[in-house]
Amino acid sequence: MNIVVLAGGISTEREISIVSGTMVCKALREGGHRAILVDVYCGDSRITLPGFSEASGCGSLDSQIRESADALFPDTYDVDAAASYMRSFDGQIAEMKQTRREFFGPNVLALCEAAEVVFMALHGEDGEGGKVQAAFDLLGICYTGSGALGSAVAMDKELSRKLFAADGVPTAKGFTLRRNEERRPAGENGIGLPCVVKPCCGGSSVGVEIARTEEEYERALETAFSYEPEVIVEQYIEGREFSVGVVEGEAYPVIEIAPLVGFYDYKNKYQAGSTIETCPAQLDAEKTAEMQRYAELAYRALKLECYARMDFMMAKDGSLYCLEANTLPGMTPTSLLPQEAAALGMDFPALCEQLIEVSLRGK
Ligand SMILES: Nc1ncnc2c1ncn2[C@@H]1O[C@H](COP(=O)(O)OP(=O)(O)O)[C@@H](O)[C@H]1O
Ligand SMILES: [Mg+2]
Repeated sequence: MNIVVLAGGISTEREISIVSGTMVCKALREGGHRAILVDVYCGDSRITLPGFSEASGCGSLDSQIRESADALFPDTYDVDAAASYMRSFDGQIAEMKQTRREFFGPNVLALCEAAEVVFMALHGEDGEGGKVQAAFDLLGICYTGSGALGSAVAMDKELSRKLFAADGVPTAKGFTLRRNEERRPAGENGIGLPCVVKPCCGGSSVGVEIARTEEEYERALETAFSYEPEVIVEQYIEGREFSVGVVEGEAYPVIEIAPLVGFYDYKNKYQAGSTIETCPAQLDAEKTAEMQRYAELAYRALKLECYARMDFMMAKDGSLYCLEANTLPGMTPTSLLPQEAAALGMDFPALCEQLIEVSLRGK
C-alpha cells in the first residue's frame, strides 16, 4: 500500500513522535509497503506534486495526484534521511508558528490524499487531540486510530474522568482547577497530601508533579499552569502502575511499569533502562481480568476506535484506578503497546500491519 506515516508536529511530544514515525515507517517498508515519513507541520517543500499549483487549492487535485502516486511513494526510500529532514526544522518551529496561520505544512494534505491510508504516529495535543482527525474526515482521508470525537475526549483528562465515572471505570478522587480561580491549600481542598497535579490535556508526564507538602503543591500548580489554563488535582495512589492496550475493543495483555527511581515521569518514560517493564504483568488471573475489563470499559466510555492504551494505578489494597486513555500511544518496538503485542506473539511489523487492518475495517 501507499502509506503516509504522519509524525512531528508542534506538541511537547514532537521528538517522541519522530521516533515513533521512523520506527513505524521502517516496519511498514519491511512489510513491503511504500511508506513515507511526513512531518504534519513542517511538510516537505522539496516535492513537486504533479498537477498541483498553489492556486488550485487542495480539493481539486486528487485525481491527478492519485494517478501519479507511485512517484510520491517510491520503492526505494531512506527513512533515516526523512527523519533528519524533519529534525532540521526543530529550531525553527517557534518562528514558523509566528508567520504561518495554517497547521498543515507544505504538501502534507496532498500527500495524505494521495495515500491509501495515513498511519498516525503523532503524539500530543495537535495530532492526538482530534483536530487532524476531523480535518481528515472532512477531506475523505483514511487514517489509523480513533476518530475526532474519541480523540478529543481522551485528550481532555477532565472530560475523561467524568465519562469514566459515569460508566463505572474507577478513577482517583480529584478535581479541576482553572488558572484564575481561587485556590485553597491542599489540606482544605478535599484531596489532601500527597496529591498529583497535572495539566488537563498534556501527555508524556510533561508538567505532572507529585506534591507532598503545601509548598510543593503551590509549585506544582505553578508548573502545571505554565503549560495550560486547566489543571487536574488528583489523590496520589501509592502502589503499582500498569497499562493495558485495547485493539478493536479487546484488551491486550497487561504490562507493569516500575520506574527504578520516582514515578513514571518524562525521563523514566524515555530513558532506556530507567524503568522495568514486565509483560504479561505478574498479577493473578482475577486482577488481570479485572484490569482488562476496565480498560475495555474505558475504551467504550470515551468512544475510542481501532486501538488505544489505558494507564492504571493499583493501590496497596488491590483497588484499581484508571488514570487516562492514550489514543496514539508510543510506537517504537520497545514502547508499551508493542511489548504487549509481543506477549501475544506479534512482532512490531505485524502490529503495525494489524493497526492498519483494524483501522481500515473500522472506517
Ligand atoms: N493519581 C495518581 N496517583 C499516582 N500516580 C499518578 C497519578 N496520576 C498520574 N500519576 C503518575 O504520573 C504519570 C503521568 O500521568 P498520566 O495521568 O498518565 O498523564 P500523561 O501520561 O498523559 O502525562 C503516570 O504514568 C503515573 O506514574
Ligand atoms: Mg499516561
